[in-house]
Amino acid sequence: ASPRVLVTGGAGYIGSHVLHALTDAGIPAVTIDDLSAGRREAIPAAVPLVEGDIGSAELLDRVMRDHRVDAVMHFAGSIVVPESVVKPLDYYRNNTANSLTLLGACLRAGIDKVVFSSTAAVYGAPESVPIREDAPTVPINPYGASKLMTEQMLRDAGAAHGLRSVILRYFNVAGADPAGRTGQATPVATHLIKVACQALLGRRPPLAIFGTDYDTPDGTCIRDYIHVSDLADAHVLALLHLRRGGGSLLMNCGYGRGASVREVVRTLEEVSGEQVPATFADRRPGDPPQLVAGADRIREQLGWVPKHDRLDGIVRSALSWERSLEQSVGQAGAPGGSASRS
Ligand code: UFG
Repeated sequence: ASPRVLVTGGAGYIGSHVLHALTDAGIPAVTIDDLSAGRREAIPAAVPLVEGDIGSAELLDRVMRDHRVDAVMHFAGSIVVPESVVKPLDYYRNNTANSLTLLGACLRAGIDKVVFSSTAAVYGAPESVPIREDAPTVPINPYGASKLMTEQMLRDAGAAHGLRSVILRYFNVAGADPAGRTGQATPVATHLIKVACQALLGRRPPLAIFGTDYDTPDGTCIRDYIHVSDLADAHVLALLHLRRGGGSLLMNCGYGRGASVREVVRTLEEVSGEQVPATFADRRPGDPPQLVAGADRIREQLGWVPKHDRLDGIVRSALSWERSLEQSVGQAGAPGGSASRS
């Protein structure tokens, strides 16, 4: 059998999209997931699931050996920024310490190729946009710090042991597989597009728009929303680059253009033909006004060509995924509609 790529966290939102992209490309994979946040149904039938914790070196050694793993894509981790502020040590364990265990297992198994899920949170509150990869990395929360530490380990292990890595710094990942095979299933979501879809469908209270007095054209925060399937394609290209013998790379994953919270809400209203129940709220602590990727490098170095970069398409795919979920999933409160927006 040909070697497999080990995908950690393959039952989760981004990991499952990547497993489908790999399977579509005919690339064999195996995944380890503890199903703490992910769903078994999200994993393609062709991909073996090893249920367990990537903090276990023994488990990693066994899976790498049994499946002849030659490369790793590392998604497993904790991702909720405000939670990282109140439970920082959980983030350093799940993100940083588990990555250390994983890299140790790679060295023992002779695996020299790693694709790593990093985040725009490593930049903190940037001084200007678009944010290029050489901008200062000054995270403002433990989530960003936990990811930046893993980036550092990858660089140092590269210099010392020849480990090659592609570090992908995601901007705001959104949307769902256009074929409807997987999507973001976390019932208690915090991400804007997911929350707005749930509010529209009456599965949670109205959307709170956090801050309308930012120094942006319409007063709301601007983000670079990237379709999860385009992001998944970037991972496949990164793996192929490493398998061809390519050297380590570091790049942003975004489109290089931003949309405001109001634009996202308006777009959702256009694609659905319905009003999004929403209220205006205070600023959320720690939100930078604008996060937009400098997005040249990923196109130049990986030859990445996005296919789903229209905001209406991103929002439409998120909404149709949300509609496909069981009505009972994610009923976080009373249906919206009582509050209004002027
Ligand atoms: N927002 C709302 N209401 C909500 C949720 C979000 O108004 O209910 C606003 C936020 O204030 C922000 C924008 O929508 O202005 C986007 O917020 P998200 O929570 O969707 O995403 P973030 O930009 O906060 O976070 C994303 C990733 C993180 C990453 C961070 C980088 O999800 O993993 O970018 O700073 F760390």
